[in-house]
Amino acid sequence: MITLPHPMFLFLLFLSLLTSTGQMVFAKGKENVTEACSVTRYQSLCIHSLSQFSNTAGRSPSKWARAGVSVSIGEVKNVKAYLAELKKHGLMKGRNKVALSDCVECFSYALDELHRSLGVLRRLSKSTFSTQMGDLNTWISAALTDEETCLEGFEGENEKHVKVLQNRVQNVSYITSNALALVNKLATTGLGRINDP
Ligand SMILES: *[C@@H]1O[C@H](CO)[C@@H](O)[C@H](O)[C@H]1NC(C)=O
Ligand SMILES: *[C@@H]1O[C@H](CO)[C@@H](O)[C@H](O)[C@H]1NC(C)=O
Repeated sequence: MITLPHPMFLFLLFLSLLTSTGQMVFAKGKENVTEACSVTRYQSLCIHSLSQFSNTAGRSPSKWARAGVSVSIGEVKNVKAYLAELKKHGLMKGRNKVALSDCVECFSYALDELHRSLGVLRRLSKSTFSTQMGDLNTWISAALTDEETCLEGFEGENEKHVKVLQNRVQNVSYITSNALALVNKLATTGLGRINDP
């Protein structure tokens, strides 16, 4: 009687083949950013916003996490300035005016949380690594929540300048979500792996 391999075995074999071909594609070192962004939810946005770091970050999870948070800070700053400008010109009325004021506040918090995160990423150490990863997760998640809270204030609105605002805020929330994924990747790989300092 012939015993067939267990289906689970075949499935695992299939998975390991997938992984090894994936590594073959990336082993050329040609697409550092594509490999780094593979853990993110919004991959094309990730590749677009982080490709400038391909050469310097190489395959280092800590450098990619830093790049992700830096880019997120830059974009939060831009959107924050844009929101402040909107508020100054008094274009929004009623409910939207209230929502806009809340957004400005949320973006201040988000910026602060991301700055603190970048501070941690600049001082990574093996002895405090797990505490640092916990703090990063807390602060970047909080920044993401602040951005989403801003969006909720405008839920169901279709006015033209509200649409523009929603797109910009959503975009920055995707960038922050990607930064969080890059930090989580660092948390799972740890320091001292793959060219990490
Ligand atoms: C990928 O990273 C390595 C360093 O790990 C670097 O030498 C190489 O130039 C990078 N490739 C690209 C296309 O930037
Ligand atoms: C989203 O962010 C990226 C990266 O900063 C930027 O290039 C793009 O123009 C942004 N899109 C919107 C709709 O704001």
